[in-house]
Amino acid sequence: MYGRRPVADAKRASRAILSNFLAKGAPGLYVRLTGETGRGKKAETPQSVADYFRTCFSDYFEKLGVGADAVDEWLEGKVLLEYGPGDVPGVGLLMLAHGAEKVICVDRFSLNQRTSFQVSVLQEILDGLEGESRRRAASCFVQEGDPASGFKPARLEYRVTRSGLSGLSEEVDLVYSRAVLEHVNDLGATFDDMARALKPDGVAIHQVDLKSHGLHRENPLDFLTWPALLWRLMYEGKGVPNRWRLNRYRQALGDSGMVALSIEPTALAEQEDINAVRPFLATPFRELDDETLQCLGFWLVATKDTDKEVEVGSV
Ligand SMILES: C[S@@+](CC[C@H](N)C(=O)[O-])C[C@H]1O[C@@H](n2cnc3c(N)ncnc32)[C@H](O)[C@@H]1O
Repeated sequence: MYGRRPVADAKRASRAILSNFLAKGAPGLYVRLTGETGRGKKAETPQSVADYFRTCFSDYFEKLGVGADAVDEWLEGKVLLEYGPGDVPGVGLLMLAHGAEKVICVDRFSLNQRTSFQVSVLQEILDGLEGESRRRAASCFVQEGDPASGFKPARLEYRVTRSGLSGLSEEVDLVYSRAVLEHVNDLGATFDDMARALKPDGVAIHQVDLKSHGLHRENPLDFLTWPALLWRLMYEGKGVPNRWRLNRYRQALGDSGMVALSIEPTALAEQEDINAVRPFLATPFRELDDETLQCLGFWLVATKDTDKEVEVGSV
């Protein structure tokens, strides 16, 4: 817990504050030095990364309640916005292969550098497609079927913007992200951007991971004991978790004018870990009830169309 080992805390904080200066001053250099992909540090092959994107793609439609046979019809002609694609727009390519008209990827950090590995992942996805899906995917590249030539911007656009906001207005049918919202630096601004970008009947779907991302020590929740100001000084420029809990997501969603169609937990903390960490929690988390602290991840499906039936899940 923060404060119980002051010397270790001071060492860790000074190192993190120094590297945070680098991350804020030269984000491109920081991303290159850390070799960030958005998928962690595990060993990867083009096939394992392509498989990951295929899983992400099918998860979205399962959570949206669209059967595998109905996906192409559902996507036909739609404009999509993806927050935080990581270093390869693999899900975007699959969305285009299955009928989407255009995918706009927006990120706060420029991770997409078109390396040979990234090109191999796109090639692997392309090679795994058949028939009409393959033809559609192949036609998205500047040179037909050649991922090394880059995407046609009219089909897949990759934007890097301050705070990762799209700035779009009523242009998008579906907004999606995975493992991104817990990293955004201004959650309220991201939800407002999403609400503005969506068409009136558009839908948003996000998978959010509220775990520590390796930044805890003795207890999976002890990263919530660092004071908020110190956390910002240590990590603000690095895109590590913003630490917001489910209550803050509900607030940002409501403030944006959107409503939840479902919220489904993906991981829960143990009660004994909550009890052990509670006396040490930093101010923003001290008043939260056990149920809120328990939620370590969730799927959110939301819309601007407030006439749609609201079926908020069990969290
Ligand atoms: C953990 S990675 C997930 C990447 C990808 N979605 C995946 O599942 O592999 C987080 C992504 O969110 C991006 N990100 C961080 N802050 C952001 C922001 N404010 N707006 C949009 N994207 C952001 C990161 O640059 C990175 O691409």
